[in-house]
Amino acid sequence: MKKEFIDLGRQPIANRFLNEDELENEFFYNLKMGLDEETLLVSQMETVEASDMFNENYVYHSSGTETMRNHFDSTAERLNLLFSPDRVLEIGSNDGVFIKHFNKDATVAVEPCSNFAKITNEMGYQTYDEFWNYDTSDKILKEHGKQDLIYAANCMCHIHDIEQAFLSVENLLSDNGVFVFEDPSLMSAYLRNSYDQFYDEHVHLFTVTALNNIFKKTNLEICGVDQINHIHGGTNRVFVKLKNNSKITKDEENINTILADEELLDLDKMAAYEYWAENIQNSKMFLHDMMSALKNKDLKLISYGATSKSTTIFNYCNIGTDLIDYIVDTTPAKQGKLSPGMHIPVVSYEKGWTEDVRGAFLGAWNYSDFITEKEKAFLDRGGFFITHVPEVDIITKPTCVPCGANKDTQE
Ligand code: TMP
Repeated sequence: MKKEFIDLGRQPIANRFLNEDELENEFFYNLKMGLDEETLLVSQMETVEASDMFNENYVYHSSGTETMRNHFDSTAERLNLLFSPDRVLEIGSNDGVFIKHFNKDATVAVEPCSNFAKITNEMGYQTYDEFWNYDTSDKILKEHGKQDLIYAANCMCHIHDIEQAFLSVENLLSDNGVFVFEDPSLMSAYLRNSYDQFYDEHVHLFTVTALNNIFKKTNLEICGVDQINHIHGGTNRVFVKLKNNSKITKDEENINTILADEELLDLDKMAAYEYWAENIQNSKMFLHDMMSALKNKDLKLISYGATSKSTTIFNYCNIGTDLIDYIVDTTPAKQGKLSPGMHIPVVSYEKGWTEDVRGAFLGAWNYSDFITEKEKAFLDRGGFFITHVPEVDIITKPTCVPCGANKDTQE
């Protein structure tokens, strides 16, 4: 049974930026998160239909920032080196930023957003314009046989019936094959109080504990986990194999360390989530109060990065055009539109990043090292960033750049 721990209120589709004429029919749902007492999986209490989120109007480009392009380049290189797969399948291939590193004749993709499926089909990669489920898996099995590498980035956490999704992978994975998937880490979100990882697309946020429990219902098992701190605000890359695959060694120490960390934080107990909910409610209050106080000083406040995450924050914390003049974002598909729910205008960086801006909410806080370094001149002239991660705060100096990991370029 699933037990609710936080209600983030009425929320729109986080990535659906709107034209004026679309405001009237905007779709809303109630975003509540709960803990499944059997599997310990954190999921939404009510979900949005997948086709309402993933369709021909989907705007998020996986290759939209240099950080993500570099991430997929290095991931493809590493997986090729580690496994030398003959046959590759990507589930949720978006604009092809990952599969472009693999041989067209031996690679297939699944992508339900037809605008993106069209792009990768045109690149020469056969792309099934479908949702990932057992029927799709069976169809690929019949047409292409078993796959040696099955990869999915920021996709598994979108799928409502996660057990079916994993069984569909099991159906298609070759005896010595590997399934690699990466999704935001619940432990990172908990430690950073980045509750904005909760939005319509993130039906689940995974702990390794919960994944382990779900895999017990399949013939798959986790054989290793990479914790990637600088991607999407904290990501786990999970390596999975068939239980009787002895060619791939299971890294027990690596897995046990993460399981122990999660246990230490009590992420297997409802009490930890109730404590988190209190922190979330306090963060909401502080953020709204602080932004209202700054606005009362007659400072021009905007937001930096029209992210899905900021949709949760603005709608939950009731931050609208009374507090924020507009959002700057480099993505052409978002510019000229209004943010979901709160209807804050999105403008290009060139248009909106003007000398009179005094404060900018870091909607793209996961790029804070890069952004605060790039906008040093803004900070030097008395500008500041506002963040809620890990706590509500004002940033007046560049945050550190650990090993250059968060470098990015403005496009
Ligand atoms: P993401 O957090 O889902 O990767 O989305 C980041 C969003 O922030 C995306 O719409 C691009 C935008 N962005 C900027 O506008 N300026 C920047 O400097 C960076 C790094 C991102």
